[in-house]
Amino acid sequence: MSSYKIRKTPGDTKWFIHDRFGMFIHWGLYALPARHEWIKTREKISEQDYQRYFDYFDPDMYDARQWAKAAKAAGMKYAVLTTKHHEGFCLFDTKYTDYKATNTKAGRDLVSEYVDAFRAEGLKIGFYYSLIDWHHPDFTIDCLHPLRSDPNAFEMNEDRDMHRYAEYMRNQVRELLTNYGKIDILWFDFSYSAKKNPADIPDPRINTGKHKEDWEADKLIELARSLQPGIIIDNRTEVEQDLWTPEQIEVKSWPRHSKTGELVPWEACHTFSGSWGYYRDEMTWKSPEMLIKLLIDCVSLGGNLIMNVGPTARGYFDKRAEHALGVYAEWMKYNSRSIYGCTMAEPEFKAPNGLRYTQSEDGKRLYVHIYNYPYRYLLLPGLAEKVKYAQFLHDASELKISSDAATRLTNSGGEKHSSIDENMLILEVPYVKPDVIVPVVELFLD
Ligand code: GLC
Repeated sequence: MSSYKIRKTPGDTKWFIHDRFGMFIHWGLYALPARHEWIKTREKISEQDYQRYFDYFDPDMYDARQWAKAAKAAGMKYAVLTTKHHEGFCLFDTKYTDYKATNTKAGRDLVSEYVDAFRAEGLKIGFYYSLIDWHHPDFTIDCLHPLRSDPNAFEMNEDRDMHRYAEYMRNQVRELLTNYGKIDILWFDFSYSAKKNPADIPDPRINTGKHKEDWEADKLIELARSLQPGIIIDNRTEVEQDLWTPEQIEVKSWPRHSKTGELVPWEACHTFSGSWGYYRDEMTWKSPEMLIKLLIDCVSLGGNLIMNVGPTARGYFDKRAEHALGVYAEWMKYNSRSIYGCTMAEPEFKAPNGLRYTQSEDGKRLYVHIYNYPYRYLLLPGLAEKVKYAQFLHDASELKISSDAATRLTNSGGEKHSSIDENMLILEVPYVKPDVIVPVVELFLD
């Protein structure tokens, strides 16, 4: 059993921590301009001009079953879909706005197809629901709003009422958590503060953020819990729930609770190419090696990874996304044993530079992920007495534990190998790196 004690939270994170790897899906009207999901506010697009994306939204190639198959093949165990993003457009059928997929050329509830398809593939179901809403008439203009530069913004806010908006959110969350069966994750996004240097906000009274009081987050969460008690909820409302969600950064250590210092359940979220929504001209796509390492890095620090796909406006995953998912599929097919049910290695096992460790929950297997492939010998400090058997994970081929290499390494050329000591486990590895992006060694511990 892993000795790490993780903070107890209200929801059921057991399956989540075991499953480790999920798919984020950002899909909305912003797929049409195809230049970032924040386009409406980045370019300060008026309601009237943004309407064209609603009018031309026609996802004729949307087939949720294909998405679900791609996710499953990639080794992903759960998914989180944007039921509504900051633009306010709802992919689901809702009684509370006309700004929804059923009123577009799609003519149907796109969320329910997602739920059915992913459930049929055995994946857990998550809903992302944006707290921010740049379409709703009651959502007050603030530092992130598309109308923030309007000289009349302050006056326009007089008719806007965040209480009504908070009620709207509760109504929609009630629909989402009532009409689609069991929902495993609810991802609210997000609270924020006023800007430091708001060059484009002429009226300082508009330079405000929004926080848990604005969302009436306590009530929102109480409602969600009453409808789906075990559901996992993120912390972005600012009411602490189950999930810490570092975004597009390299996490260096297992995050801890800011007050108690306890280890917390966490999930890094990342994109294939910097943007969440489909971005046609974005060229900073991550290399296969980066994709695989991101996942390993998370698990080696006790966390999950949710990797994002931004489907096109026609409703399919473009070739670049398919290719990236294929990279995961290929690696996970052979190596998922070092990911599922694994966590940070016990403190006694410290990975040297160029390697990452994960360990099975029962403590019996240690996985060595080789980032820097060594010449002939893999040197693992402190493990000599602890390992019964070693093999490559991808093909279960034995890696011989070398007893005489220590002497050989010590004597070669008369030079003493500085880091060899009697506790060094020395594994003989092939000269040529196996054809695996990151090879994994499986060590059976004593
Ligand atoms: C954000 C962004 C966003 C994305 C999300 C995912 O804070 O606003 O567009 O949906 O993070 O983590």
